[in-house]
Amino acid sequence: MSEPGHDPRLVEDLVTRAHAARERAYAPYSRFFVGAALRTDDGRVFEGANVENASYGLTICAERVATASAVAGGARRIDAIAVVGGGSRPAAPCGACRQFLYEFNPEMLVVAESPAGERKEWRLSDLLLDGFGPGDLEDVH
Ligand code: THU
Repeated sequence: MSEPGHDPRLVEDLVTRAHAARERAYAPYSRFFVGAALRTDDGRVFEGANVENASYGLTICAERVATASAVAGGARRIDAIAVVGGGSRPAAPCGACRQFLYEFNPEMLVVAESPAGERKEWRLSDLLLDGFGPGDLEDVH
């Protein structure tokens, strides 16, 4: 049996939802519209889109919106995330998003697709090698 994150039908569903979420992005400044959809270990799907602000530095990426929504919904483990960016190539999650996601499963599947359907896939731990995570704080106290 395939891992939850790698079930082809579930991956297709996430990518479809990420395309739909991208339609809701608020990106009047960059015009780079991004959508994300993630699946948690209990089978729920959460979506996100980038939200920009007139105070540019407050911008939130689609991946972090989806992750915060999942965590606020009670989830603590993410099996897979799909991201659809606005450019001609699949846009991998930015460094800040890689770190933010790492907290909730370094081995999650990350799928990036361009609006035209070009796709790339990774494990998060390959995008963030030797990442810093909860385990690094364990022996402090
Ligand atoms: N953006 C995302 O939503 N996710 C990423 O991983 C990269 C960048 C957004 C932030 C900003 O609104 C726009 O794309 C351009 O950087």
